Amino acid sequence: MKLLLCITGASGVIYGERLLEVLSKKEGVKVELIVSKAGKNLLKKELDTDPREIYEMADEVYDPEDLDSPPSSGSSLYDSMMIVPCSMSSLSKIASGISDNLITRAAAVFLKENRKLILTPRETPMTTTWLKNMYELSAEGAIVLPTMPAFYHEPDSIDDIVNFVVGKILDSLDIDNSMFRRWENKDLRPSE
Ligand SMILES: Cc1cc2nc3c(=O)[nH]c(=O)nc-3n(C[C@H](O)[C@H](O)[C@H](O)COP(=O)(O)O)c2cc1C
Repeated sequence: MKLLLCITGASGVIYGERLLEVLSKKEGVKVELIVSKAGKNLLKKELDTDPREIYEMADEVYDPEDLDSPPSSGSSLYDSMMIVPCSMSSLSKIASGISDNLITRAAAVFLKENRKLILTPRETPMTTTWLKNMYELSAEGAIVLPTMPAFYHEPDSIDDIVNFVVGKILDSLDIDNSMFRRWENKDLRPSE
């Protein structure tokens, strides 16, 4: 499985970092990485991490300004692309068909080639424009998977909350995982 992971400048870069960490340990999975300039800034701010430490977990890293590299072309074959987290700026550009950097260009390619594109936006509250853009992208076939935590799995820590969202992304990629406790209605269990 060959995947393209992009990290953009929305809060919650920890989701992208955790996803990369998990995928890098999966056998048979190759992950290529693009981090936007704003994404690099957020990695430093939120995780106190030099982006180069993150790059080491990827099989290949591309410069977001290098529109000459493989993800720009539909002839480069990937199984899925994920933008985690996805800024509303990148999401809105993709919805409008603007391909001004390697991330937005690669997303346009995934849409035109009908390949799996997972967008993980994080912003609140939402403008009407962003809501419309998410609707348009969903109608085009993208999976819009916001960084929305759930509480039915009874998280005890920030790690549990992060793992829930990462687990939902892995579910969308059809990758087996036990990142969070799945729902089972305890009321339906036979009484002891
Ligand atoms: C500290 C900080 C937090 C931000 N958080 C968000 C966010 O949660 N969601 C969002 O859409 N944009 C957020 N932004 C704004 C984006 O970084 C900005 O729109 C940027 O141009 C996105 O560029 P990119 O999509 O190329 O990464 C944040 C910016 C800063 C400095």
